[in-house]
Amino acid sequence: MSRRSADVAKRDAGYHAADMVKDGMIVGLGTGSTAYHAMVRLSARVREEEISVAGVPTSHQTAMRARELGIPLTTLDEHPGLDLAIDGADQVDPSLRLVKGRGAALTREKVVACAAGRLVIVADPGKVVQALSGVVPVEVIPFAATPIMQTLSRMGGAPRVREGKAKDGPVITDNGNFLIDCDFDVIPDPEGLEATLTAIPGVVECGLFCRYTGKTTLVVGEEGGCRVIEGKRA
Ligand code: 5RP
Repeated sequence: MSRRSADVAKRDAGYHAADMVKDGMIVGLGTGSTAYHAMVRLSARVREEEISVAGVPTSHQTAMRARELGIPLTTLDEHPGLDLAIDGADQVDPSLRLVKGRGAALTREKVVACAAGRLVIVADPGKVVQALSGVVPVEVIPFAATPIMQTLSRMGGAPRVREGKAKDGPVITDNGNFLIDCDFDVIPDPEGLEATLTAIPGVVECGLFCRYTGKTTLVVGEEGGCRVIEGKRA
C-alpha cells in the first residue's frame, strides 16, 4: 500500500469513528496520526453544533491538538467512566488484540481504553496482521530500567531503551518514564506475555492490549469504504 493510500485509509477510518460519537458523550482521544483524523472530524461536528462532547486526551500531543481543534477537554477525575475511546494501533490481530506504543503513549492509552465503555480502533490495512509479532514497547520507571532490561533479555526479548530523535538520550514519556522496546519476534501467547511483562516490578505498562477485545470495534479504512469488525464478547 502506498503512503498516500495509507493516509487516505487512516483518514477514512478516523472520520468513520468520529461519526460513531453521539451528542453528550465523553470520549477518550487516542494518540497518533489516525486518531488525529478522528479528532479533526469530531471538531467539525462540534463546530457545526451537531454534537457537544468532551474528550480525555491520552498524551500531551493529543491535548495540544484538541485545544487547537476546539474540542473541549476533561479529565478522568471528572469522568472516570468514558462512553467511548477512539485510538490507533500498530498491529491488530484477528481476535482484535493489539500492539500499541509507537508514539510512547501506551500507558495513558491503556488507562483510557480500560475506562471506556467501547474502544474504537482506527487503522489502515497495513496494521492488520495474522499474528502479533516484533517490538512490544514497555514503559518502566527509570530507577528499575537496568534490572528490567536483564529480565527482558532472559525472556528472549532483545530489549533496547528507546532513544529520542530530536533529543540526546532516552525518550521520556508523558509520565516521566523510560520506554524499552522489546523485540520478541513471534508472540505465540499475547495474553501470557502481557501478564508476565506487567508483573515485573518497575514496569508501568506494556503495549500489548489483550483485555479489551470484547468491547472493541475495529474500523479499517479500505478502498470503497470502511471495514468494521466487532469484537466477540467473552
Ligand atoms: C501511540 C500509539 C498509536 O495509536 C499507534 O502508534 C498508531 O499510530 P498511527 O495512527 O500514527 O499509525 O499507540 O502510542
